[in-house]
Amino acid sequence: MRRAKISIIGAGNVGATAAHWAASKELGDIVLVDVPQVEGMPQGKALDLYQSSPVEGFDARITGATTYEPTAGSDVVIITAGVARKPGMSRDDLININTGIVKQVAENVAKHSPKAVLIVVSNPLDAMVYVAWKASGFPAKRVVGQAGVLDAARFRAFLAAEIGCSVEDVHALLLGGHGDDMVPLLRYTFAGGIPVSQLVSPQRLEEIVKRTRSGGAEIVSLLKTGSAYYAPASATVAMTESIIRDKKRILACAAYCDKEYGVGGYFVGVPCVLGTEGVEKIIEIELDDSERKMFKTSVQHVMDLVKSVKI
Ligand code: APR
Repeated sequence: MRRAKISIIGAGNVGATAAHWAASKELGDIVLVDVPQVEGMPQGKALDLYQSSPVEGFDARITGATTYEPTAGSDVVIITAGVARKPGMSRDDLININTGIVKQVAENVAKHSPKAVLIVVSNPLDAMVYVAWKASGFPAKRVVGQAGVLDAARFRAFLAAEIGCSVEDVHALLLGGHGDDMVPLLRYTFAGGIPVSQLVSPQRLEEIVKRTRSGGAEIVSLLKTGSAYYAPASATVAMTESIIRDKKRILACAAYCDKEYGVGGYFVGVPCVLGTEGVEKIIEIELDDSERKMFKTSVQHVMDLVKSVKI
């Protein structure tokens, strides 16, 4: 059987870490791509990772490149190219520089891997996934942004620590954009099947929601020279796995919503079924008045952001 092929554009912190996890899960052969200015860097990281394979016991070809020819025929392409934020910057501050980068990357990807599913990670996520969709010309279901799995992971980790239970038993759902106004849904958040509202006080829940919303900024302020990468890469690989192995997991992703949730043609975080076709289904859940209001505010932010993009 032919191995799946995964290309990762941007061999920096998120890209290289995603390669590491994807390789160790034997999701497929991996091509790491970066710009010609750093010639040798993606090749070096790829060779180093490949040399870990006999020790770790995974079979995958891992190569690096500064051109797109080696990526040809990829099944999944992960876009992490761009700049990461520094302390004091919001994700939105990256918009001008990353728009140009993601546009050029998506055009190249579409040329060499016309059947791929694109997973966008570059920030500001909700705008960058829109740019990648436009620039690639791909059907919307084959373009998806990584945000909700990461935001939910942060929420789950904080909740598990608070409750004193395994992270595996905490399940959470967040909607909306990947920004400070993301919408954690407490009614859809459970630990071992028990609603978290029965396990954690309202005041602590509010504090945990707040910490989740600024989860990325907390790490940026600690690192000082860049942004989070272990959890973003792990979230991206969970999406990649669901697509490559056609697991059809239900994951919160930035997916193109038109009639869905009444969004009107933007990528926002919603629960999706991810399989080989990409976003195979968007699941519309019931929202109460306050959840709907928060979702609307978040979508408005995404719309304003996208409108400010000059593609
Ligand atoms: N093509 C390919 N790679 C590019 C391009 C391009 N046009 N432009 C920049 N890159 C590369 C950089 O050379 C760098 O190696 O993208 C890489 C980005 O890596 P880092 O600076 O380490 O940033 P990282 O932490 O990986 O974050 C990447 O993901 O989570 C988001 O906000 C984050 O937008 C940022 C992106």
